[in-house]
Amino acid sequence: MTKSFAEAVENRRSIYAISEESLISDERIEELVSHAIKHTPSAFNSQTGRVVVLLGEKSKRLWQITEDTLRKIVPAENFDSTAQRMAAFGGGYGTILFFEDIAVIESMQNQFEAYKENFPVWSLQSSGMLQFVIWTALEAEGFGASLQHYNPLIDEDVKKEWDLPSSWKLLAQMPFGRPLMAAGEKEFQPVEDRLKVIK
Ligand SMILES: Cc1cc2nc3c(=O)[nH]c(=O)nc-3n(C[C@H](O)[C@H](O)[C@H](O)COP(=O)(O)O)c2cc1C
Repeated sequence: MTKSFAEAVENRRSIYAISEESLISDERIEELVSHAIKHTPSAFNSQTGRVVVLLGEKSKRLWQITEDTLRKIVPAENFDSTAQRMAAFGGGYGTILFFEDIAVIESMQNQFEAYKENFPVWSLQSSGMLQFVIWTALEAEGFGASLQHYNPLIDEDVKKEWDLPSSWKLLAQMPFGRPLMAAGEKEFQPVEDRLKVIK
């Protein structure tokens, strides 16, 4: 990773048009995802995050599963745009699946009764951090990625397809590939309305 942290944070955008060409080796992809999993914080260091990296045909398979699922519920006359979206995501090089391990969350709840209500919330917050780290790391390697949420519709089929533990709860899908188009214009609300520095 050669870009500065601030540049990588600023350059991370939602990129929907992606190609199936990879920019780095599969080993490097695994390395950056492993690094993110290891170093992203979690409440009480509970390490509830779980990740599946689908590459090449396996990523295409995910988006086929998603398309097949949506076809059952989206009215046929509106399906064209959905099918185009699925084709665009499946046209990338890979997809990162983000899960949280409910068994670990429950175990933390049992151990720390006073924080029972907080652990599921902290788990989501921690997953958001992990998603951001991986999204930004992919950007820093030149990939374009976006964040999708077809859970819980696809949960059972995904778990069955890749034989994943039943305690893993799917939270998000991040398709990535070589960016084919720059991100669109983005509006920013005045930061001064969103920030107070108190001295
Ligand atoms: C928690 C969260 C959920 C999101 N869910 C989706 C989603 O389901 N589909 C999607 O296309 N983009 C999703 N996004 C992307 C946002 O729309 C996007 O990040 C935002 O508009 C800012 O644009 P940028 O990513 O280009 O900076 C999500 C982003 C966040 C942080």
